[in-house]
Amino acid sequence: MEKLVIKGGTRLEGNVVIGGAKNAAVALLPATLLVDGICTISNLPYISDVKISCKILEELGAKVTWNGKNEVTIDARNISSSQAPIDMTSKFRASYYLIGALLGRCHHAIVGLPGGCNLGARPIDQHIKGFEALGATVEICEGKINAHAKDLIGTSIYLDKVSVGATINVMLASVLAKGTTIIENVAKEPHVVDVANFLNSMGADIRGAGTDLIKINGVERLNGNTTYSVVPDQIEAGTFMLAAAATKGNILIKNCIPEHLDCLTAKLIEMGVNVETFNDSIRVYTDKRPNKANITTMPYPGYPTDLQPQIGVALSLADGTSIINEGIWESRFQYTAELNKMGAHIIDQGRSAIFQGITDLYGAPVAATDLRAGAALIIAGIVAHGETSITNIYHIDRGYENIEDKFRSLGANIQRVIEEDIF
Ligand code: UD1
Repeated sequence: MEKLVIKGGTRLEGNVVIGGAKNAAVALLPATLLVDGICTISNLPYISDVKISCKILEELGAKVTWNGKNEVTIDARNISSSQAPIDMTSKFRASYYLIGALLGRCHHAIVGLPGGCNLGARPIDQHIKGFEALGATVEICEGKINAHAKDLIGTSIYLDKVSVGATINVMLASVLAKGTTIIENVAKEPHVVDVANFLNSMGADIRGAGTDLIKINGVERLNGNTTYSVVPDQIEAGTFMLAAAATKGNILIKNCIPEHLDCLTAKLIEMGVNVETFNDSIRVYTDKRPNKANITTMPYPGYPTDLQPQIGVALSLADGTSIINEGIWESRFQYTAELNKMGAHIIDQGRSAIFQGITDLYGAPVAATDLRAGAALIIAGIVAHGETSITNIYHIDRGYENIEDKFRSLGANIQRVIEEDIF
């Protein structure tokens, strides 16, 4: 079993370079199944969700060539199967994009129900509603989703919930459909725009990504022979911004898009933390405890749920009492029990939590309860007096490339150690 061991009490200082966005990468890779040619994706984060996505593409018959750690060339012209291996799809959430991509490409998809972080119920009814509206029949049986269609025909779809996954999935299924598809009440996250840009660069006709309505004029085929660079990861950038705030540090976060983080920047300024934005970098610095603040997580451009645990660490150290309302997931406060083991005073009330600010955290053995919770516990361990050990770090490896190297380069004392299981 691997764990991270952190000797805390460090003020983080220095520069960090942000990689490509996990949530864009895991959609772009299945999207290559729609391309009738060879395409190269660069600025890919080298994380387990990406590695497994590439393995699945290979299992489906695509030729996948790694050109170094962060770039891959995919030739999906001759895929041999529309059935994704269940043992692989169950390992991460974004495997659901294989349904839209395979349905669009082959008019048939069998994909295991998606896995991923346990954040409460994670229904995919809006994905299914979209596929069915396009003319597909969708059945769920024995842990698998079986979708098939004679033809996919463009139509109007109104999503009942603003869903990143449903927006991208329906977009994937409709790029090669006959006629025009209009999807309303869509998600506007940067990775939704990134997937639309990728597909358009291959010859798709998608308009409106980044607004509430996306219009897709179906095309006959997508051409390859293009290199596409994944958008910088706004959640990784935000994680380091919050690490600077919590550790009273000074970090220049390079290779990010500051506009994607406007919401966090505004919140940090409200918390008395200094933020300077440049063209493609952000500096965050402070030498004081943060001020208290209240937060409600929302779809983009609101405060992202994927930066909720990380700001929870900063607020647990704030001057005063703060409240976080979780607007997206029903079980996203599991990390608060771990932070309380480190001396935080957080009352978990289900969909909201009360953070009574304290001045110091103390090292303790804790467990990453999900991906972003794991990142939050690393920040807490760096702030805390004494030693923190974090187990279940496979969650963290799903979404952050070289996280301990990046924190170490900022001054953190953090080591990955392999511990033999006692039982
Ligand atoms: C994506 C991100 C995840 C992030 C989340 C919200 C990926 C791979 N994951 O997850 O990191 O936390 O967006 O920003 O990109 N919902 C339904 N029915 C559906 C789909 C969603 O009711 O068919 C609900 C969900 O329960 C949730 C809300 O809609 O309450 C948003 O979910 P959604 O945006 O779909 O999240 P994911 O795409 O799974």
